[in-house]
Amino acid sequence: MNKKKNIMFEVKDLEVSYGSIKAIKGISIQVAKGEIVTILGANGAGKTTTLRTISRLHDSNAGTILFKGEDITKTPAHKIVSMGISHSPEGRRIFGILTVEENLILGSYSQKSTDKKILNWVYDLFPRLSERKRQLAGTLSGGEQQMLAIGRALMSRPEMLLLDEPSLGLAPILVKAIFKTVKEISQSGVTVLLVEQNAKAALKLADRAYVLEVGKLVLSGTSKELLASEKIQEAYLGKKRREA
Ligand SMILES: Nc1ncnc2c1ncn2[C@@H]1O[C@H](COP(=O)(O)OP(=O)(O)O)[C@@H](O)[C@H]1O
Ligand SMILES: [Mg+2]
Repeated sequence: MNKKKNIMFEVKDLEVSYGSIKAIKGISIQVAKGEIVTILGANGAGKTTTLRTISRLHDSNAGTILFKGEDITKTPAHKIVSMGISHSPEGRRIFGILTVEENLILGSYSQKSTDKKILNWVYDLFPRLSERKRQLAGTLSGGEQQMLAIGRALMSRPEMLLLDEPSLGLAPILVKAIFKTVKEISQSGVTVLLVEQNAKAALKLADRAYVLEVGKLVLSGTSKELLASEKIQEAYLGKKRREA
């Protein structure tokens, strides 16, 4: 499995239910410091539930979540943020009646005050946001709203960034631009856990990947291995099996 020594984040045998329905049925994930790891899966596989459980927006039924060696399985959500894990949620969840800058400042709530350096770094990463500081977030395009959601998550100076389907509903050119920025974020030292339905884009970006199917991990490996796997090609990359 993962030979890298510096494991920063670990999920062990995690189970999560909605009432009597088991959404996550015992999954284990490891992320080394500095890695980009992706969790791939179709709609309903349990990707969002996994990230929401890590952020403690949802309770787990069994299993352990460790961050830098510390058990955070029962740690409250606000503390997770101040410990260094930040979450850019599915569907962006930005505040439409606030400006771009106000939304970003809200992202730094876990800090004593908004760090101008971080704000400027976010504007450097996303020049489009810089040009639209005073614009109401609700008037941004889908791609710009996604940039804002990621930018806001960065405002708490995370060591690990959780990204929930940043490519959702975006044109391929915008997906490319956003993923390029995720790479830059990673290169600046932030560890990234990315969940995606867009397997092709995610595997091009990530170091390693896990494949989730109805709450269970069915495959894992380096992105290179998964891109070459016939199962992945058929199920997620839309390639037909070659006739023997
Ligand atoms: N709030 C909820 N109440 C009940 N079931 C839910 C809720 N949220 C998600 N689920 C169910 O949990 C499963 C996993 O959903 P989700 O984590 O959103 O998947 P994904 O993000 O991979 O599309 C699905 O079967 C979904 O219907
Ligand atoms: Mg989802």
